Amino acid sequence: MAIFVNIEDLRRAARRRLPRSVFDYIDGGADGEVTLRENVRAFEDVRFRPRCAVETPAPDLRTSVLGMPVALPIVLAPVGSSRMFWPRGEEVAASVAGAAGTIYSLSTLSGCRLEDVKKATRGPAWYQLYLCGGRDVAAATVQRARDEGYSALILTIDTAVAGFRERDVRNGAKQLLTRRVWPMLPYVAQFAARPRWLAAFFRDGGLMKFPNVQLADGPMLYADVGVALEESTVTWKDLRWIREIWKGPIVIKGVHTGEDARRAIGEGADAIVVSNHGGRQLDGVHATIRVLPEVIDAAAGRVEVLLDGGVRRGGDVVKALCLGARAVLIGRAYAYGLGAAGGPGVARAIEILRADIVRTMKLLGCGSVAALDRSYVDVTWAR
Ligand code: FNR
Repeated sequence: MAIFVNIEDLRRAARRRLPRSVFDYIDGGADGEVTLRENVRAFEDVRFRPRCAVETPAPDLRTSVLGMPVALPIVLAPVGSSRMFWPRGEEVAASVAGAAGTIYSLSTLSGCRLEDVKKATRGPAWYQLYLCGGRDVAAATVQRARDEGYSALILTIDTAVAGFRERDVRNGAKQLLTRRVWPMLPYVAQFAARPRWLAAFFRDGGLMKFPNVQLADGPMLYADVGVALEESTVTWKDLRWIREIWKGPIVIKGVHTGEDARRAIGEGADAIVVSNHGGRQLDGVHATIRVLPEVIDAAAGRVEVLLDGGVRRGGDVVKALCLGARAVLIGRAYAYGLGAAGGPGVARAIEILRADIVRTMKLLGCGSVAALDRSYVDVTWAR
């Protein structure tokens, strides 16, 4: 495998291997991509305050999330359509997460059956729920996730409609999904330019469907996602019936403000994820690291608070933990690895971040992630 020093190297390798429409689906954000950029940049506003001349030979990265022990404070975020990045992508990523001692989150909008994904990992798995297809369809899937031993349900609340991702429009995402020759024609050259990906795509069965959204006439088709999301907005009311059929922990993902954090906790959330969907939904919201302190204050220790968005280095993980996050979720960081090199790429992404965290903690003079707190950082928000 090529030498991947940092996540940006994996990103570049993913760009080389994937057709433009697939790479941009991973890499892009909504509208002007302001929040996408800001998620990454805002970590620079958090500066470390190290304690030097302190011996920390082997920083302890272990922690737990919702009572589940993890080897490091990183969980793999739900990333839809991972099967388009690599054959059986969700199973591949889940297997690597388990081997690394952490949790894999499976998106409703995945190409692999939730049963196969659970079997692929020896670690815990979380199921991320969209209500595509309506309440009965979602309830049937929740039942399957429960029977299969998924240990938490993530409810993503920031997707009332799919964000407007301009790159997808330019790349002909819509036309390509018509599967009709004439509309597709202007966009097919990008696939011919990526023969390795194309061969793997056909070996894996061609265009994936969504086997975890079982409609009356079979699995939901790729072309139907946008409409399905719009018709199935999650509201706080849904938490009530979901609670009746899911007795395990519920994680509310997509909290941007202290107000929504309080609401989520009041409605019975067991954990919340400060997330703006990686800048893919409402553009122009604050970076997640920027709103983390507000959400931590609002949660007031009642539930665990996780964060995702813009995590590209282990130092970012350490900063989020110093500001009160229990752990972080990573999306693109591992998706680039999956698109670049499959399982070894995902493993490399996790290893890059793990090694960064260890080194950062040694340089900080902090011996365990449990001991990270506000005293190790200074924060001056630039905007
Ligand atoms: C996502 N994300 C996401 N979230 C979710 O709840 N359900 C989903 O199906 C998806 N799908 C998805 C696809 C792709 C390609 C990406 C990049 C992201 C959002 C994801 O869970 C997470 O919130 C962000 O990825 C975090 O930001 P970073 O780590 O990518 O900067």
